[in-house]
Amino acid sequence: MIEGESSRSRKVALFVTGGIASYKACEILRGLQKNGCDVRVAMTEAATEFVGPKTFEALTAHEVYLDVFESSSPIPHIELAEWADIALVAPATANVMAKMAYGIADDMVSTALLACSCPIIVAPAMNVHMWENPATQQNAETLESRGVFLVGPATGSLACGDTGTGKLAEVDQIVSATLARLRASSDLAGKHVVITAGPTHEAIDPVRYLSNASSGKMGYAVAEAAAAHGARVTLVSGPVALPAPTGVAVVHVTSAQEMLDATVDAFATADAAILAAAVADYRPAVQADHKLKKGKEDLSSIELVENPDILATISKDRGDRIVIGFAAETNDVIDNAKKKLARKGCDLIVANDVTRADSTFGSDTDSVTLVGVHSETEYPCMPKAEVANVIVSELAHMLEPEVPVTDATIVLPVGDNNAREEEQDSTC
Ligand code: CTP
Repeated sequence: MIEGESSRSRKVALFVTGGIASYKACEILRGLQKNGCDVRVAMTEAATEFVGPKTFEALTAHEVYLDVFESSSPIPHIELAEWADIALVAPATANVMAKMAYGIADDMVSTALLACSCPIIVAPAMNVHMWENPATQQNAETLESRGVFLVGPATGSLACGDTGTGKLAEVDQIVSATLARLRASSDLAGKHVVITAGPTHEAIDPVRYLSNASSGKMGYAVAEAAAAHGARVTLVSGPVALPAPTGVAVVHVTSAQEMLDATVDAFATADAAILAAAVADYRPAVQADHKLKKGKEDLSSIELVENPDILATISKDRGDRIVIGFAAETNDVIDNAKKKLARKGCDLIVANDVTRADSTFGSDTDSVTLVGVHSETEYPCMPKAEVANVIVSELAHMLEPEVPVTDATIVLPVGDNNAREEEQDSTC
């Protein structure tokens, strides 16, 4: 068991759904309690066929949440959702994952999960064919893309007699993931982080501009992750079609010069910056104040001047603050990222190969390598929400080295969960 783990937020809502692995929820509960967590349990009716609610009542000294209408609390599902610092669904059946993916709320467990605004961890356990069914795979992907962490399932012999992927992950692994996520939810508390995202538009005239294909998804995911880690976040965003992430202050800008001004302004009170924007390197030397007319005015060539480099500018005067940049490359990815790190003078570069099918502009997944002055850490293809979490977790570690980099162990479970990694790779 994990010794010496501590986390400031420790209230865990444990959702037990119906499967033979339900009995392992008792061990998970004990593991969390041994590490200082206060646990409350909600069960589906099917789960009560495997383990009696009295067991959990005795272990937690709390009433088990079973029914939205028959409870000593007037609104039990909201009470539980608001109380929890984290929700853990273990074991999670294919059915509860489908309900979560589609927002169905038809019993105590699914209704409370829909009301949860805290981080959610799901530990699936089911028959291999149910896990491999495209419907379950799609639901798992949907949940991951919304920032839900999946731990497992593992591969091995299953209770139904089949062998394959579908086994509940090891108890220790589920407990570690929960503790790590609890800790992560406050490891940037009190910190102000500035993030840039999206493209910039460089005006040629009032209706034409130069730009690039950046969707802004990565920067927005990083902003969301930083807020989830407890940071105050200022997101300086170029023109994108994305909703503002919850709890994030967005400053909308259009051009590189506007992005520079807003970033420098926000960075004055910040502890760190993560610059994910695809800033246009050049702008037209002259911006016409009227729509240029074909034939009357020369549109066959446009004189360009270089834009300011925001990353290099803020890295220069950063002092002991941390600055992280990105490098979207098409060849010699690591070599170019190292050169960029030195040229821009920042602390870390998130390098990605945009020629890979899973890492193009606009995709929902990314394969990145974190390149530091003395380090290089390669990650497999992951949903952007998970990549963002890895970057933000690394930032927390860089700001306070005693904070361990933990989230990678959540998103890339070890041991039995190699199957999950392989499965992730094959879907990416
Ligand atoms: N960047 C910036 N300001 C610029 C250009 C880039 O802040 N004017 C930042 C990006 O947000 C990113 C990093 O610098 O974090 C690298 O961006 P990239 O476009 O890959 O590098 P460039 O400096 O433009 O170099 P090149 O296009 O030659 O690869």
